Amino acid sequence: MRKQIVGSSWKMHINSINMAEETGKDLNKLLSDESRVEMFILPSFPMIPKLSEILKNSCIKYGAQNMCYEEKGAFTGEVPPLVLKELGCSYVEIGHAERRSYFNERDESINKKVRLAFKYGMIPVVCIGEEERDKKENIGKIKIRSQILWALNGLTKEDAQEVILAYEPVWAIGKEEAASVDYVENMHGYIRDIVKKELGEEVSKNIRIIYGGSVSPENSKELSKKENIDGVFVGRFGLRAENFKSIVDNFKKSKIK
Ligand code: PGA
Repeated sequence: MRKQIVGSSWKMHINSINMAEETGKDLNKLLSDESRVEMFILPSFPMIPKLSEILKNSCIKYGAQNMCYEEKGAFTGEVPPLVLKELGCSYVEIGHAERRSYFNERDESINKKVRLAFKYGMIPVVCIGEEERDKKENIGKIKIRSQILWALNGLTKEDAQEVILAYEPVWAIGKEEAASVDYVENMHGYIRDIVKKELGEEVSKNIRIIYGGSVSPENSKELSKKENIDGVFVGRFGLRAENFKSIVDNFKKSKIK
């Protein structure tokens, strides 16, 4: 059985520690005892210590939006995995489309980060997804296949099945509407098939594939009903605690897989 997940990256939408504190407290008030759905938030690095205090005894876990692909050394401006571990991060987001496009993140460093996440006891949330032009040229699936192979390269089966794959078609991020539910379900089925071919049935049954890209309280209702959609990764429409809770409620009621 795959436990459903609702995660939210705050990106830089929440851009002050005060605002982060308020949002964290609001979320905790509404959801600190909710154990039926796995929940996490990913604030900016300097907000993490404050949130770790607020969420100390909460079911809501937290993590980071990125980390360095090396453990230590001369990497100016980067954040070492050990520091995230010391701050109590349970998750680390890796390879978001914005990092791939604005910060030149490549599959090879994404793979290094995934391996380091496991070394430091954190769950990697690895973002994959085709761009608009890949979709137009009908090469979206090839691109996704390659991203999955890179993400999981060199992992043991035990670790591979703990990875959270966040399918985020780049053309659906930051828009008014999400990709259609059928499109997402089809892609998630494809992703699961690739995992099955590469790592076997057991891993493919256990690995969780969540959808991101303009998820809202409204569209999450239909997304939650689909067999291969194990949760959602929310951006803008999950920043208010009540919205995040509505999305969690939808997944709480969804199928048992
Ligand atoms: P969005 O962001 O919900 O604001 O589209 C999603 C994401 O990039 O994960």
